[in-house]
Amino acid sequence: MSDLLSVTIAGTGSYLPERVMTNDDLAQIVDTSDEWITSRTGIKERRIAAEDETTSDMATAAARKALEQSGVAVEDIDMIIVATITPDTLTPATACYVQDNLGARQAMAFDISAACSGFLYAMKMAKRMIASGAIQNALIIGAEKLSAFTNWTDRNTCVLFGDGAGAAVMRAAQPGEGSIIATDIGSDGAQTDILNIPGGGSRCPITLENANDHLATLGMQGREVFKHAVTRMKNAANAVIERAGWAAEDIALVIPHQANLRIIDAIADRLSVPNERVFVNLHKYGNTSAAAVAIALDEAHREGAFKKGDKIVLVVFGAGLTWAAAAIQW
Ligand code: COA
Repeated sequence: MSDLLSVTIAGTGSYLPERVMTNDDLAQIVDTSDEWITSRTGIKERRIAAEDETTSDMATAAARKALEQSGVAVEDIDMIIVATITPDTLTPATACYVQDNLGARQAMAFDISAACSGFLYAMKMAKRMIASGAIQNALIIGAEKLSAFTNWTDRNTCVLFGDGAGAAVMRAAQPGEGSIIATDIGSDGAQTDILNIPGGGSRCPITLENANDHLATLGMQGREVFKHAVTRMKNAANAVIERAGWAAEDIALVIPHQANLRIIDAIADRLSVPNERVFVNLHKYGNTSAAAVAIALDEAHREGAFKKGDKIVLVVFGAGLTWAAAAIQW
């Protein structure tokens, strides 16, 4: 293990579509209210992609910003991973459209389907590839057009989600640069039923008979998901904090998956990290699945919520169930 290279995040970027949909806008569509959504989730508004705006368009926009900040030339990117559950097409991978948009001709390109955990799954894969010397530069992206897979007649789910993309460029750390210290990822395939898009795959194709049953939209058992989320995120975050040899008071910022403010508060409490050291932007964007932690990382970075040398913890969970965490010294 000692000959592995340290890996750093050289740049971050994000993109949010222009259209804002507020809770009051949603109350015109389904039987809900700003008061209910705010008090149960913390979400105030979300962004909705234009009809002709694809997941790869958003991913490309976020990637361009990350590349610009990183100083890594697009032709030097060896690998592009897009984490998404709302790909442009089932095949080819959304990453291939991004590769073409960017002109990243020498990159291998593929998608990861690990729902809201996908960006940190991608980070772990890229870290290992770079650390082993197999590749030099990676572009990882979380991008979602969840609005295209939302049942806009179901108030249980449609109030929760939004669209957007976040990206990071990774490469070997130079002396004096920060690095990804520890990662933890896992999944529990016994819980596939509590959060899923049941139709549209080979298990349940969309047919003329079921076309109106909203099977190709996100379904969820909210309370079950909530319970698992808190436990899994707490355990994953603790695992990387322990492996990094850190204590709660060392951590400058926790950047959690942005699904529900009550889940985030519960995590902060269980990690003994005060709320002011936990990054939250879900009031603006809702849950953007794989994009959420990537967008939050970029916003926190650009806002100066952490600085060089700071210890930060990213932690996520999602359908699968899947979960992941990363301890990063910036
Ligand atoms: N507006 C108004 N009322 C709503 C509503 C909405 N948008 N959605 C649900 N309700 C109603 C329900 O119908 C229910 O009414 P009833 O008691 O008359 O049956 C009531 O509110 C309570 O619903 P419940 O599901 O028990 O609420 P909750 O406190 O568990 O909150 C969630 C619901 C979805 C916000 C919460 O369970 C949650 O956030 N779970 C995790 C979801 C998540 O993170 N998913 C993504 C994972 S990546």
